[in-house]
Amino acid sequence: MAIILGIESSCDDTSAAIIKDGVILSNFIAGQKVHEEFGGVVPELASRAHQQNIIPVVDTAIKNAGITKNDIDAIAFTRGPGLLGSLLVGTSFAKGFALAQNIPLIEVNHLQGHVLAHFVKENENDTNQPKFPFLCLLVSGGHTEIIVVKTPSEMEVIGKTIDDAAGEAFDKCAKTMRLPYPGGPVIDKLAKKGNEFAFNFNKPKIKELDYSFSGLKTSFLYFLRDRMKENDKFIDENLNDLSASIQHTIIEILLDKLYKAVKQTGIKEIAVAGGVSANSELQKQMTIMAKKHKLNLFIPSFGFTTDNAAMIAIVGYFKYLDKDFVGQDIVPTARFGL
Ligand code: KG4
Ligand code: ZN
Repeated sequence: MAIILGIESSCDDTSAAIIKDGVILSNFIAGQKVHEEFGGVVPELASRAHQQNIIPVVDTAIKNAGITKNDIDAIAFTRGPGLLGSLLVGTSFAKGFALAQNIPLIEVNHLQGHVLAHFVKENENDTNQPKFPFLCLLVSGGHTEIIVVKTPSEMEVIGKTIDDAAGEAFDKCAKTMRLPYPGGPVIDKLAKKGNEFAFNFNKPKIKELDYSFSGLKTSFLYFLRDRMKENDKFIDENLNDLSASIQHTIIEILLDKLYKAVKQTGIKEIAVAGGVSANSELQKQMTIMAKKHKLNLFIPSFGFTTDNAAMIAIVGYFKYLDKDFVGQDIVPTARFGL
């Protein structure tokens, strides 16, 4: 039996979770409203908010799990990738906690966390998990990758963005439409009332399984600038259709390459992960694609799509079983590949 405390602080969410033998006992997340007025995450403000939140967040996670700190067998923390100042808060806390409690310290790659979020069991009878090897479309604010997941520790990136991430495309297009940050969920909501074929945006021509979103973002900006010259209410009058059309294009770009990866690898077990996987239309289109091509599809439940500590704790659990621990000299790293 193993009880793992997971800590996530790579960007603008401070989160702590408790997992017992792979089953979630608690997953507490404190978001940071402070960034909204700036239209994006301000690193200095993020680390300061983590510093304020970390102790109460961990305390709440432990209480919600119905355990005490002395029941915890190991602590796992996000080492990277992310904002260095933010990562330092979680890393320093984890080191101090491991030392004080005399328990093993486990470093976790945030991306591995997103991918393995599918293995967090909601209860002891939860067997709804992908089988290895599976393909994972990781789509977040910082990453867009197609990954062959061979084992919990062995992952191969076979396609990735050469510029912006899909979440960034959502957020930047939302900003162009003067929508609040983060724009992805706002576009998702508005798009439900819009026509996805109202406007047509060109898809990029990128080789192999790689992605590009910066051209789309720029052409969206120029398109709106031109239309606003003719009618300064154009954005407000077409918000739903614009949201539906740009969302449709981003999803088509994502799924074209994912299907190409399915054909290339022959893998029929498919998962999606990361903040953008919360998008309702992406989930719908992936479900249609899976049905059409007889694929086994795994979509994480809502709480495990965006950043959370349960996904860090589950990687911690796998590493705990392998006795894959680190020492007190460990440092966080802003760049950290799979
Ligand atoms: O995984 P995540 O919480 O943080 C990173 O590691 O980046 O992902 C955040 C990203 C943001 O870009 C946000 O706009 C996007 O996920 N996102 C969505 C939705 N919910 C979150 N994008 C589209 N539709 C959504 N419903
Ligand atoms: Zn993330």
